[in-house]
Amino acid sequence: MKELHQAINAHLASEFQASHTYLAMSIWLREKDLAGFSQYMLAKSDEERGHAARMIAYLVDCDAEVELPTIAAPERGWPTLLGLFDQVYVMERGVTASINRLYSLAESQGERSATAMLDWFVAEQLQEEAEARFVLKRLRLAGDNSAALLLLDQQFLEGTALAHVKGSGSITGA
Ligand SMILES: [Fe+2]
Ligand SMILES: [Fe+2]
Repeated sequence: MKELHQAINAHLASEFQASHTYLAMSIWLREKDLAGFSQYMLAKSDEERGHAARMIAYLVDCDAEVELPTIAAPERGWPTLLGLFDQVYVMERGVTASINRLYSLAESQGERSATAMLDWFVAEQLQEEAEARFVLKRLRLAGDNSAALLLLDQQFLEGTALAHVKGSGSITGA
């Protein structure tokens, strides 16, 4: 198998692991009756499967073999909501780094179809990191104020929590 296709296959684990982690986070949040945050995480879990599906479609279009990864059960001992979103940010930065490595490899091999496919992911990661930073800042502002926290939860339920972030350079089809 081509080195690039092998690397894309290896990256699939990051997307599926993120999907699985977001699902675990959604359950944890649901248990805390944070219905809005929980709904947001469930949507993110679905999005990550969509990301894996995009890359799988690319591999199939290239007539490359697809190797699905084994995904470990996520840790679920988050100390606080803030701690949970810290992990979201760290995880997304890790995915961005992996996408950037794929991009460099595709460029070095002159694989234009791969860089075109990866352009979408570069924009998506910018959006995801911006979202995670925005939520982290909101949570720091809310601090121990449960009214502020419940308001944010409500905004997630209504789909308005990230209106500000989505407004700038939003991409569709995630
Ligand atoms: Fe992703
Ligand atoms: Fe992501």
